[in-house]
This record gives sequence, C-alpha cells and structure tokens, in this order.
Amino acid sequence: MRSFCLRNPKPREESLRRRVDAGRLPRHIAIIMDGNGRWASRRGLPRTFGHRAGVESLRQVVELCAELGIPVLTVFAFSTENWKRPQEEVNVLMDLLVEYLHREAQELERNGIRVHAIGRLDELPPPARSAVYEIMERTAKNERMVLNLALNYGGRTELVDAARRLAAEVLAGTLRVEEIDESRVAGALYTAGLPDPDLVIRPSGEMRISNFLLWQVAYAELWVTPVLWPDFRRVHLLEAILDYQRRERRFGGLKPHP
Ligand code: FPP
Repeated sequence: MRSFCLRNPKPREESLRRRVDAGRLPRHIAIIMDGNGRWASRRGLPRTFGHRAGVESLRQVVELCAELGIPVLTVFAFSTENWKRPQEEVNVLMDLLVEYLHREAQELERNGIRVHAIGRLDELPPPARSAVYEIMERTAKNERMVLNLALNYGGRTELVDAARRLAAEVLAGTLRVEEIDESRVAGALYTAGLPDPDLVIRPSGEMRISNFLLWQVAYAELWVTPVLWPDFRRVHLLEAILDYQRRERRFGGLKPHP
C-alpha cells in the first residue's frame, strides 16, 4: 500500500519548512536549471519537452522563494554557448521565455516580484528582447524579491564587458587605474547592486559551474542534486536551504571562538 506521504507531498514540505531558520536565509540563490534534455530522453520525448516541463519547476521555485522571503533568485535560462544547439531547440527556448513572461506577468506583479535580466540582452531575438524589457519595466517598482534571469549570459563574457566598461571610463578620464578595486569591478558587472549568491543549486548531478556568475560565486555554497530540473520541486529547494543552514561559512577566515 502506498503511504499517505507519497500521494500527498505536503506533509514532507511542511515538516522541512518548519525547520528552516527564517533568520539565516540565503540572500541570493542562484540555480543552474540543468537536466531538461535527459529528463525528456528518458521518456523517449524530444529534448524540448524537457524545457517545457522545466518551466513548471521554475514557477514553483519562484513562488516558494517569494513566500520564504529570499531577496534574490537568479536562474540560468540561456547561456552564450546555448546558441550552438539546433535552431529548433533555440527557438523553443526563446518561445518558452516569451510565453512564461506573458503568462506569469500578472502573478509576478501580484507577488511583488521585480524581474531583472543579465546577459547580452541586445543579442536576443526581438520578441524575446521586447518581452524581457517590457516585464522589467512593468515590475521595476516591486520590492519583495528580484527574479534575475540569466539570458544569453556567460560569466567570461560578463567579465569582458566589465573590463571594457572600466577601460572606457579610464580612457574618458573619469576613472584612474589605481581606483580599480574589487568594488569597482563588482559595480561594472551585470549584477551591480545585487548581493553575491550565498547558495548555488545545480540539479542533474553535474559538478560544474559552467561559466555561471564566475566572479560572484567566489564564496557561494554549492548544492548539487541528482534530481533533474523538470523534477525539481519545492521540497528540493527546502532541502538545499536546510543544508545551506547547516554549513559553516568562513570566507577564508577562521571559525569564530564560542
Ligand atoms: C539545461 O538543460 C537547460 C537549459 C539550457 C535551458 C533552461 C530553460 C528552461 C528551464 C526553460 C524555462 C526558462 C524560462 C526563463 C522560461 P539541458 O538541456 O542542458 O539538459 P541536459 O544536460 O540533460 O541535456
């Protein structure tokens, strides 16, 4: 006989949720939404079905982050390397983005979520670009949480763009080379003004950073799960947060004396 728990995941979610320390939440969670292709292949489906299923995981994670009071959630939705995929898959990903933004706009608005995007946004196809700029404008005043979409994003490209920006300021005479320090570099990144991620979640078991927020993850805690992104649910996010809260973060220093 199947247990009540299997049919109804809520009791497990509630018991995990009760254990979360609301005073020690990550200020920024970043997720590499990986494993969509494998999820689909295991079911004998085209890869794009995995991406479609992944949108529901995204919806659930955004909702729970807002409920818990996580200030920033960044999701890796499309990398600078993803253009190498078959054109049909790229088209589906762009269509899903537009669909998601149109369908969820009201809900995001209602929940006080500000949508932000990082990456070379001007290289996105026009419908995706307009949908992104539109939702950013529409939600600009929301303050409860930032949903940060990494789109046409690459960590190295971001560093190149930051270097160009700082070099241009030096050439213009508005910045001296000696003034370039960590905070100037951070301020020239796409994520300027956002806290660095405290927790990076990678589903599908890969132990890689994959060119994601290279500068910003310097001291982030990593949490990897074999669960594929389309199967990722609220309980998995709670497990990640609980594990994060058990970690001792030293930032290169020593454990404080009791
Ligand atoms: C990686 O899985 C996933 C992506 C390249 C795209 C992620 C996009 C979504 C979840 C769609 C929803 C996003 C928005 C913003 C609406 P993979 O295809 O590399 O999986 P694999 O490693 O199993 O092949």
